[in-house]
Amino acid sequence: MKRSFLLAILMSAACIWAGEPDSNQRGRYLIVIGGCNDCHTPGYPESGGKTPESDWLVGSPVGFQGPWGTTYPTNLRNSVAHQTEAEFLAKAHTAMRPPMPWISLANMTDSDLKAVYHYIKSLGPKGPDAPAYKAPGENVETPYFEFVPKNLPPSDDQTGGQQ
Ligand code: HEC
Repeated sequence: MKRSFLLAILMSAACIWAGEPDSNQRGRYLIVIGGCNDCHTPGYPESGGKTPESDWLVGSPVGFQGPWGTTYPTNLRNSVAHQTEAEFLAKAHTAMRPPMPWISLANMTDSDLKAVYHYIKSLGPKGPDAPAYKAPGENVETPYFEFVPKNLPPSDDQTGGQQ
């Protein structure tokens, strides 16, 4: 009992001393609870979250199509490889296209955003970049999800007038 208590103290001291692993754990935690893998990691929701961590956040070749055009969840491991921490923070405070929940990102504290950045960076670049954004009406050759409300009552216009 006493020995495990001592061990726990030593381990947390080691984490504080090492600094970065602790922040990476926070970044990983934010990625998991933020649902980032649901879009940025192919097959993650289908696997019930069992995709190996080595395959996380590599982006998706399956687009989301709606009135905004067709967007693809970015390969975050490649994008952070080319971004400084300051550039990542600036991007995180910029509006992005749907269905990226950019408002959640923009409302994270700088220290959380830095933890997210360093965690993704620690995974290293992997795989090809996601396909580039296509404007509405542009020819799309990849698979994509269609984000269109169906079965609306005739009097309701919940499309925000975008159709
Ligand atoms: C519902 C799907 C979805 C979820 C969930 C999601 N994203 Fe995204 N994300 C996208 C899409 C799509 C884009 C591309 C948006 C565009 O083209 O404007 C994107 C773009 C980004 C970018 C911009 C990358 C760059 O450098 O251009 C960052 C950073 C990002 N996401 C981080 C996150 C983080 C962190 C989370 C979790 C908190 C998250 N995303 C959750 C779909 C999603």
